[in-house]
Amino acid sequence: MNSRVTLITSSSADGDAMSSTFLPFTRPSIDDETIADVVAVLKGGWITTGPRVAALEKALSDYLGGRFVRSMTSATGGMEMALKAMGVGPGDEVVVPAMTFAASANVVERLGARAIFVDVELRSRNATPAALAAAITPRTKVLMPVHFSGLAVDMDGVLELATQHRLRVLEDAAHAIGTRYKGRLIGSFGDVASFSFHANKNMTCIEGGALSYTDTALTTPLERERFHGIAKDAAGNIDIETAGGKFNLTDVAAAVGLGQLRHLEGFNRRRGELAARYEARLSPYVEADRLPQTGDGHSWHMYPLLLPLAELGTTRDAFIAAMRERNIGLGIHYPCLPAMSHYRSLGWNPADFPNAARIGAETVTLPLFPAMADHDVDRVCDALLELLPR
Ligand SMILES: Cc1ncc(COP(=O)(O)O)c(C=O)c1O
Repeated sequence: MNSRVTLITSSSADGDAMSSTFLPFTRPSIDDETIADVVAVLKGGWITTGPRVAALEKALSDYLGGRFVRSMTSATGGMEMALKAMGVGPGDEVVVPAMTFAASANVVERLGARAIFVDVELRSRNATPAALAAAITPRTKVLMPVHFSGLAVDMDGVLELATQHRLRVLEDAAHAIGTRYKGRLIGSFGDVASFSFHANKNMTCIEGGALSYTDTALTTPLERERFHGIAKDAAGNIDIETAGGKFNLTDVAAAVGLGQLRHLEGFNRRRGELAARYEARLSPYVEADRLPQTGDGHSWHMYPLLLPLAELGTTRDAFIAAMRERNIGLGIHYPCLPAMSHYRSLGWNPADFPNAARIGAETVTLPLFPAMADHDVDRVCDALLELLPR
């Protein structure tokens, strides 16, 4: 296991792999019917927020068991709107995992509140209720669990904790459209869930997001914040009730989203098959700790792998370059957030979050998207097993 591996091979030694087409780590699948609907919207004369947005919100609400749904231009905007509607502001704290995309914590800081980081489990990349509980102070207003890569957090534990401490819960469900927890869709229960429809998500609007929530008191603040603070009376006269923002989705984007939602369950089933194939191919050779946790209801937004960099005697960048030489694209999701300059400047130290720090240093994301064939997974695994210590 200590053998050092030369990662960059000469191209002549690798002719077959080199001649195959490039496999990116993600790629959207958009069908002809969806493209035709986008064209119909573009030709129809009404291209911004209109009937397609209303239809997408209705379809998402139906999918999520009848919950309230409001769409917006991004999950980042949605989370900021939701926190604001929950009354989060200066002096408040929101508990956020140290292993997540920057948006989860940035939105808290943008409201003048403080993101309080907690470490995550190594294999699930999720924060446990115990970790969230340990970070609660009298200033805590919201718990923000992240369903990392589409594996649900322990929602029973999180909701019980929130009830005990009278806290709100904003689930960062950017990775989790179609994820199930104990058989129930994420976003079909709980307080507020925020979905992302960014281009690399399990369903996309190109850019976009949606909030799903239970509390009707959130509707007016969300709608005001989403569109300039405008309130209209029955005659159509407008008033500005608050200095709102501008986060409304377009009908062009919603047409893409409607087409994607029709395929979501099928997309996620295929993601699950591909993830199972990765697991079957890699688990005989790769320590369990380095492979992602599997679980019922996982929507497999990503398939992350921890690299044994010390054994490899190389850097992650060199490993990624070696895979790229083999025409395979890898991603990095994500650096440890407390290690980033802004969060360091606020006094956070990645060493206090050993799992997140290790994931941040060692993780790579393998290609995983519904249009991949089984042989694409085999190609990735062959290349990995050639490079990894055996
Ligand atoms: C965990 C997480 N939260 C939030 C976001 C933000 O989503 P959006 O790009 O739709 O703003 C992302 C995007 O990748 C994410 O991964």
